[in-house]
Amino acid sequence: AETLGASAAESGRYFGAAVVPNLLNDASYSAALSGDFNSVVAENVMKWDATEPNPGQFNYSGGDQIVNWAQARGMEVRGHTLVWHAQQPGWVQGLTGNNLRNAMLNHITNVADHFEGDISSWDVVNEAFEWDGSRRQSNLQQQLGNGWIEEAFRAADAADPGATLCYNDYSTDGINAKSTGIYNMVRDFKARGVPIDCVGFQSHLSWNSDLSTYQANLQRFADLGVDVEITELDVGGSGSGQANVYRQVTQACMAVARCTGITTWGITDRHTWRPNDTPLLWDSNYQKKEAYYAVLEAL
Ligand code: XIL
Repeated sequence: AETLGASAAESGRYFGAAVVPNLLNDASYSAALSGDFNSVVAENVMKWDATEPNPGQFNYSGGDQIVNWAQARGMEVRGHTLVWHAQQPGWVQGLTGNNLRNAMLNHITNVADHFEGDISSWDVVNEAFEWDGSRRQSNLQQQLGNGWIEEAFRAADAADPGATLCYNDYSTDGINAKSTGIYNMVRDFKARGVPIDCVGFQSHLSWNSDLSTYQANLQRFADLGVDVEITELDVGGSGSGQANVYRQVTQACMAVARCTGITTWGITDRHTWRPNDTPLLWDSNYQKKEAYYAVLEAL
């Protein structure tokens, strides 16, 4: 097929991009987005600080804008993210014990309820592990103990039983200590019936990233009985080195039956969270890069 989304759809997959509401009014940006992608995720506006700036006061304006824009064009929407140690509103950061627990559960319930039926898959918990496979010592971990991730998934499942519920993290681009820590958690969740459906691999990469065990890592998670998704792909560098990494990631997803789709963390090098880099598929003048054609060919 001629576009990333249509090519991915031929094998039942999606190809998505992280977006910000303001740029939906930019003609070049919206043309690339609606022309090539069949899925979107909010880069920031569905995070805790944006959706619940004050306790119990919810703001869904940015998220609703993205959902409405996407649905009008027949695109799916991923949800990012219900619980994370970063981009928490200030009022959450000082909470302790059951006050933090209740705030987390109330947040998950309200946000997942609001978007129920509109979200294909939710990143329920983001970035809760360290490089060595141990739990990150966030406020959630320190105040609530090991059980907080399970509590979060149970609350999300109660609020939106139809959504695919994901655990999402970075530096999990192969078989390593961190991905193994997450693997052990997912295996335990599946054994005990904790409602987890998917693992997201952010895949913030560089042209020289080692991808020798990338596909095998996706496969070992899939073999646990969860879907896998590439959730935040971007690749530092340029030219054929960058294109090769994009190609390898795409080929790995295509080779794993339970890899349901790929999202790039933006569209154009003009708007990226890696400002000193050119990590995306369109250059800053909205020209398709070598990496774009590598992905299209691999889908
Ligand atoms: C980033 C956004 O792209 C930035 O605009 C924001 O300032 C910080 O967060 N991992 C994630 C994403 O899960 O939510 C982060 O997004 C990038 C790293």
